[in-house]
Amino acid sequence: MREQLQKIKEEAVAAISSAQADVEALRVKYLGKKGELTSVLRQMGSLSAEERPAIGQLANEIRSQIEALIEKKAAEMRGAEMERRLREEKLDVTVPGRRAHVGKSHPLSVAQRELEDIFIGMGFEIAEGPEVEYDYYNFQALNIPKDHPARDMQDTFYITDNILLRSQTSPVQVRTMEKKRPPIKIISPGRVYRSDPMDATHSPVFHQVEGLVVDRGITMGDLKGTLEQFAKTMFGENTRIRFRPHHFPFTEPSAEVDVSCFVCGGKGCRLCKGEGWIEILGAGMVHPNVLRGCDIDPDEYSGFAFGLGVERIVMLKHHIDDMRLLYENDLRFLSQF
Ligand code: DAH
Repeated sequence: MREQLQKIKEEAVAAISSAQADVEALRVKYLGKKGELTSVLRQMGSLSAEERPAIGQLANEIRSQIEALIEKKAAEMRGAEMERRLREEKLDVTVPGRRAHVGKSHPLSVAQRELEDIFIGMGFEIAEGPEVEYDYYNFQALNIPKDHPARDMQDTFYITDNILLRSQTSPVQVRTMEKKRPPIKIISPGRVYRSDPMDATHSPVFHQVEGLVVDRGITMGDLKGTLEQFAKTMFGENTRIRFRPHHFPFTEPSAEVDVSCFVCGGKGCRLCKGEGWIEILGAGMVHPNVLRGCDIDPDEYSGFAFGLGVERIVMLKHHIDDMRLLYENDLRFLSQF
């Protein structure tokens, strides 16, 4: 038995040291319940009482030697596997990454957001209205009755006799005053429609921002201060504004508002066509008829309103000479902003 045990040990030592994988199989083979060592020990019964302790001790020693060898081998193999994976899965974090292609906002969206931010900064709220609008809101409630000549200024897309695509953002003034009591301080950005053929300065769809302030004691001075602040933030600290008398049916008095040319500062250049001034918006004091139509008493309240074209601002700021560029979605153009 002694020899058998020695033989098992030698075999096991050799098998373990040359093992490439699966040392667990060797554990089963030599030490398992049906393993070689166990089956030798089963024969212990045939030994004499004097031999048994010595053989037993030897068997136990061999068992623990084999166990230790297997454990050592298993640890070595785990280490080697770890080494291999570290080598193979090495990441070079200094390799330059692939550049992700990131899109940008359209210059019209950027300008609209900038306009919103400026007026929100002055305490305005944003109001919205429908693009498919009633004639009533787009015209009648704005002091433009059915046969009013001012309707000719705006070639309107009619859907039915009473429903149209709004030709201006001004109807949002009326919708707001119908819903809300003063103090009112809103801007309303959005799309408007006119049946103009597309050319360098016209488009059947374009964008406006409407402004409306109604409260007790609102004067033209408030309008001027608000627009001056806006112009300075939008076009630069040195910008000046000027009012020219004009006519809009929904304001009285009405004005067209110019800013000093932000390229030449007012001396006259190509952008301002030598004028030194650039027209940017229409404005005025809300007409009493408009207030009255919304059940706001013009003897108690007054207000100012203004409306500007977003395309015009974008074209001026970026020196774009053809409005069509803003709608063609040519990435060579858009990626410049
Ligand atoms: N709605 C006018 C237009 O489309 C612009 C405008 C002028 C709006 C004067 C106003 C205003 O609110 O007071 O031409």
